[in-house]
Amino acid sequence: MKLFKTQIELQAYLTLLRKQSQSIGFVPTMGALHDGHIQLVKASIQENDLTVVSIFINKKQFNNLDDYNNYPQNLSNDMQLLERVGCDVLFMPDHDEMYPKTYVPINLDLGQLNTVLEGPNRPGHFDGVVQVVNRLFNYVMPNKAYFGLKDYQQCMVIKVLQEAYFPQIDLEFCDTVRLSNGLAMSSRNLRLSKQGVDLASQLYKMLDMIKRLSQHIESKDALQYAKHLLTQKHIEVEYLTLAHADTLTLGKKWFKKQKNVVLIAAHIEGVRLIDNIVF
Ligand code: PAJ
Repeated sequence: MKLFKTQIELQAYLTLLRKQSQSIGFVPTMGALHDGHIQLVKASIQENDLTVVSIFINKKQFNNLDDYNNYPQNLSNDMQLLERVGCDVLFMPDHDEMYPKTYVPINLDLGQLNTVLEGPNRPGHFDGVVQVVNRLFNYVMPNKAYFGLKDYQQCMVIKVLQEAYFPQIDLEFCDTVRLSNGLAMSSRNLRLSKQGVDLASQLYKMLDMIKRLSQHIESKDALQYAKHLLTQKHIEVEYLTLAHADTLTLGKKWFKKQKNVVLIAAHIEGVRLIDNIVF
């Protein structure tokens, strides 16, 4: 696996390969890699001649400095995992490489996407994601880029970015990889105790229960019941919300003819976790 820390080196290498008509798949990450990330890397390896993974903890997307300072890092393990799975290129820029003094932020109108769920709850978060993915897409210029549906709203934000600036890049959104107890894999899980991991499995259990209840009762009652059960277990629910799966328009009733998504953000042991279910 080749390791590049500057965009000049990265681009020189990729230009060469592109001249040989090699297709490039790209998986942006913030490191502390787990099977969720690796699934994206495997998909890219399968569908492209060359796979580039980036690791960059993007300060701009953290609205909470503590979260940024405590974000897990495990570089030697990350490199081992990537080598083992067959990743071709690891790009690891530092902050100044990503955001040189000359950097002018792009202004992307996310419309109502920025006014629901993660938008108001994490002010500035999606703008930070947009800035970094814009930079990374420009550096890598992949044929395909891979994102996880665990970050459902992020996928929709990336789609707006792609449609506005990168129509030549194909996006692929991959299913959420879970532990055997249902908990969505996340780098932040590393900050949970064993009991925290057990408790956090309740998030997906409740989402799955809501999906089943949707056949029988109104959305308001299903969501209220799940929230009650979570609160009883001392899980602090930030939101538990029904939305239209294609537009993220919030719903007061199940969308009967279209797909529903129920999204949750909750705090366990001071760690903020998100998950969702589509049905
Ligand atoms: P990070 O949290 O490291 O996630 C990198 C990619 O892995 C994202 O597309 C995310 O949705 C996906 N992912 C994380 N957990 C997953 C799981 N359990 N199953 C499937 N996919 C999973 O998301 C980011 O980084 C950043 O916002 C980034 C896009 C890199 C921009 O900084």
